[in-house]
Amino acid sequence: MEQRFSDLIILLASGINQRRMYFDNHPKVQSISRDFIEKLRIMLNESGTEEFSFGVFGSKFIREGKYLVGPSIAGRSLIEFAEHLGCGGFIFRLPLAPVDLVAFFRLGAELKDNVDNIESARVTFAGAGLSHISLCEPFTEDGQERTGGSHEATPADGTGGEVDFMAADFAPLLRVYQSLYETVATNTLALRGDNRIDLDQARTCGEELVAVSDRGALDVMQFMRYPDFDSYTIGHSVRVAALGALLARQLGWSPELQSEIATAGLLHDLGKGKVPDEILFKPGRLDDDERRVMETHPVLGARVLLANGENSPIVLAATWGHHLRNDQGGYPAMPAWFIHSSAAALIHVCDVFEALTASRPYKNPMSQRQAYEIMLADAGSFDPHMLAALVRVLGLFPPGSEVMLSDFRRAVVVAAGAEPRQPLVRVTHDAAGLPLTRSLQPALRLDQESGLEIADFVRIGLDGEERSHFEAVIETA
Ligand SMILES: [Fe+2]
Ligand SMILES: [Fe+2]
Repeated sequence: MEQRFSDLIILLASGINQRRMYFDNHPKVQSISRDFIEKLRIMLNESGTEEFSFGVFGSKFIREGKYLVGPSIAGRSLIEFAEHLGCGGFIFRLPLAPVDLVAFFRLGAELKDNVDNIESARVTFAGAGLSHISLCEPFTEDGQERTGGSHEATPADGTGGEVDFMAADFAPLLRVYQSLYETVATNTLALRGDNRIDLDQARTCGEELVAVSDRGALDVMQFMRYPDFDSYTIGHSVRVAALGALLARQLGWSPELQSEIATAGLLHDLGKGKVPDEILFKPGRLDDDERRVMETHPVLGARVLLANGENSPIVLAATWGHHLRNDQGGYPAMPAWFIHSSAAALIHVCDVFEALTASRPYKNPMSQRQAYEIMLADAGSFDPHMLAALVRVLGLFPPGSEVMLSDFRRAVVVAAGAEPRQPLVRVTHDAAGLPLTRSLQPALRLDQESGLEIADFVRIGLDGEERSHFEAVIETA
C-alpha cells in the first residue's frame, strides 16, 4: 500500500512536470490524469476510504506521520506547488474528473509566486475551477498539524517503519537529491521540445554530488531500493552519476575529474528523451527495429550536447561511448581511429551495474552479488580495471543489500566495511521475521567482536528466462 501512495504522489509531480513542457490536451498530460484517477479509484476501493490525502512539510511528503523518501526526492515540483500555496498538503476525492486534475497540473505548472495565505490559496484554487481536490491546513513551525488539518485520512497500514528509518539516514541530503532529479528530468524533457538544455545546472549538480562526498554517494545507492515509476531514466542517471563519482574517487582521479564524471552520469542517457515512450518503457525485450531506435540514444545525446555548446571531452565521450564494450563491440559503430576512453569505460560499468540492480516496473532488482557475477562472466564487455574498482568501492555487499545474518536476523547494509565480507548493517527483522523499528537499531559492524556474519542473500540464482531478461536490460541501459 505504501508503494501505491508513493506512485500516486509521483504521478501528480510528473503531471506538473509534463504540463510545464506541454499543454492541457497533450496526450502525455491527459494519460497521466487518467492513470492517476484509475489508480486512486483502486486504492480507495481497497482501503475502504473516501479520500486520499498527504502532507507537505519541510520540503518532504508526509503520510500518517511518516516521511515518504522516494516521492520527496522525485516530486520536487509538487512540493514547490504546496509551498507556493502555503498549504500543508492535498486531499483528493472521487468523483475526480480528468479535467479537475489537468487544472491542478496547470496551476502547479504556472504558479510561480507564493500566495498570501491559505484562504487566498483556496480562492486561487476555486478560481482555477478545481473540484474534488482541496488543500490541507499548513503545519505549524514545529511540524505539528493545526487543528482542522486532514493529513491522516486513511488508516495506517503498518508499513511506516521503513520510511522512518530511511528518513533518518537521508534527510540532510534531500535538497541535493531533489536538484539532481530535477536537473535530469528537465534536460531529458527538453529533448521532446526545443533541445535547449541547462548545462551549467548539470555541472553545478555534478559538483554538489562530489561535494557531499562518499557518504552522500553511498546513500544515493540506497535509492536503488525505490522503483522510479515512469521516470526511471531519471533515477537511473542520478544513481549512475553517484556511482561514477564514487568510482572516480576510488581511482584517485582529481575532484575536478570526479565532478566531470558525475556530470557525465547525469547526462549520459539524455538521448533517451528522443526515443518514443512505447520503446523506452516497453517491458522486456525489444524487437530488432525497436532496438535499432533505442541504440540511437548515445549519438542523439552527444549531438544535443554539442549543439548546446558542451565541450568537455569527458562528458561527450561518456555520452557517446557508454554502450561500447571493452572488446570493441557494442554501439554506436566505432571509427577505426577511435581511442578507448576511460570516462566512457567507467560510465559503462556504472550504467550496467545500476540497470541490473535497480527496481523497474517490470522486474525485481537483481542482488548486487548477482550483478557482479553476470558482469564478471561477460569478460569482454568491461574494462577489467574499472570493474575491479567497482567491486573494491562497493564491497561484496553494497549499501542497500538485504542480507540474512548468521543469527537469522535480517538486516540492510548501510556502508561497505574495510573487509569485503564485513559491512556495517542495520537490523530490520528479528530472528522470527518480525519487523523492528529500524530507527532504534544501532548500526552493527560484522566482525569478530560481534561474532556475526552474513549467512544468505535475499535471492540467489537465475533461471534462463531471468537471464535473458537481464541481458535485455544491459543492452539498453
Ligand atoms: Fe544508462
Ligand atoms: Fe544508455
